[in-house]
Amino acid sequence: MSEKKAQLVIDGKEAAIELPVYTGSTGPDVVDVQSLVSQGVFTYDPGFVSTASCDSDITFIDGGKGVLLYRGYPIEQLAEKSNCLETCYLLLNGELPNAESSTEFAQQISSHINVDEQVHHVFNGFSHDAHPMAMLIAAVGGLAALYHDSLDIDNAEHRMQVAHRIIAKIPTLAAMCYRHGINQPFVEPHGTLGYAENFLHMMFGTPGADPQVSPILSKAMDTIFLLHADHEQNASTSAVRLTGSSGANPYACIAAGIAALWGPAHGGANEAVLKMLYEIGDESHIEDFILRAKDKDDPFRLMGFGHRVYKNFDPRAKVMCQICDEVLDDLGVHDDPLFRIARKLEKIALEDDYFIERKLYPNVDFYSGIILKAIGIPTSMFTVIFATGRTPGWISHWNEMLSHPYRIGRPRQLYKGHTKRDYP
Ligand code: ACO
Repeated sequence: MSEKKAQLVIDGKEAAIELPVYTGSTGPDVVDVQSLVSQGVFTYDPGFVSTASCDSDITFIDGGKGVLLYRGYPIEQLAEKSNCLETCYLLLNGELPNAESSTEFAQQISSHINVDEQVHHVFNGFSHDAHPMAMLIAAVGGLAALYHDSLDIDNAEHRMQVAHRIIAKIPTLAAMCYRHGINQPFVEPHGTLGYAENFLHMMFGTPGADPQVSPILSKAMDTIFLLHADHEQNASTSAVRLTGSSGANPYACIAAGIAALWGPAHGGANEAVLKMLYEIGDESHIEDFILRAKDKDDPFRLMGFGHRVYKNFDPRAKVMCQICDEVLDDLGVHDDPLFRIARKLEKIALEDDYFIERKLYPNVDFYSGIILKAIGIPTSMFTVIFATGRTPGWISHWNEMLSHPYRIGRPRQLYKGHTKRDYP
């Protein structure tokens, strides 16, 4: 039981409504407003910016201090010492694996990496210029047809099996989106390769040929997946939870998450960074764009700068910045005009009072856009990569929700339409 209480007095009524206040392991307290409905009152919070929609043990963010923890571990430490698959295990199970469970988990994932021949037909139903996100939503949703009957979502073992399947198959499907888009045959995953390595092989390899993936690029890809693996109750994760709360098939829930991620306000920002860099076009134009970003009368914003939650350096951006250097070095493209513009822009913005005063640091999307472009991934695939990385987080939240008693999500509204009227 909660010791702390909040009191709510509505419209001067004498008896205040007493509401319990809960304290988490860290972060702000929450006021439990569940009893208000029985008093005939709802709370009003468009965008749910002040509302905790669930209890969760998975991820913690302190945007003011620039902190991001997965199961308590700082993201910088995981990026340095762990890898994507180990981090998936951590998100799903709550603890890091030991050597034995790590190997077992990697084998599990590897055993589910192929997709059924039927899934190929999903892709073949699309034209080659279809947006890869449209194909990904269809392919992931389509998996529900293949794995429907054998699935009891109230069974913890079944849920884990689904989680393994979806984590394993998402890079395969993501690479298939790309291959279909360039009208090239799919490349089968290779049993000897690591998670991110296999993804790059399926993207850029030759069917039947021995895999040749640069260790620097596969490490960069692995870290990009790891850094995107979870970010608490954002729009797409909330979409997954809300869809799952109706008891829907988990593949359909992940498809809902992918759909929510598609929008430019969520997963599409790194694409916007690249568009802006092309628009700037030449280092000599940077100053003009900085002036436009600072001009109150101009709606232009410097894409890849600032963050709704982080009012300090996004810890993921720091890691991403370092990888960016390694990748550009490995590929020998430091002198590419686009990357020179990006680096100069970053330097100017970091030294400019306007950006310093408003705490507008380069965000994770600024660097990820540059890295993905350098690796040779087209901008239309950027959100697909984000979805691939975020899938372990989504499925961990889905599993967490179903592991405890839960209710179907059903937000209320402040109705402002007509009151009852008769049909004329
Ligand atoms: N360029 C120029 N000025 C900016 C920028 C920017 N990128 N971002 C914020 N500002 C300014 C605003 O004009 C405002 O100035 P003022 O105080 O003089 O009025 C001030 O900084 C605060 O801006 P807000 O809009 O209140 O900041 P908010 O936290 O709401 O916005 C957001 C965050 C939407 C990310 C914003 O910084 C932005 O549009 N950035 C560019 C787009 C981008 O990179 N998005 C990806 C975010 S990361 C992610 O989603 C994973």
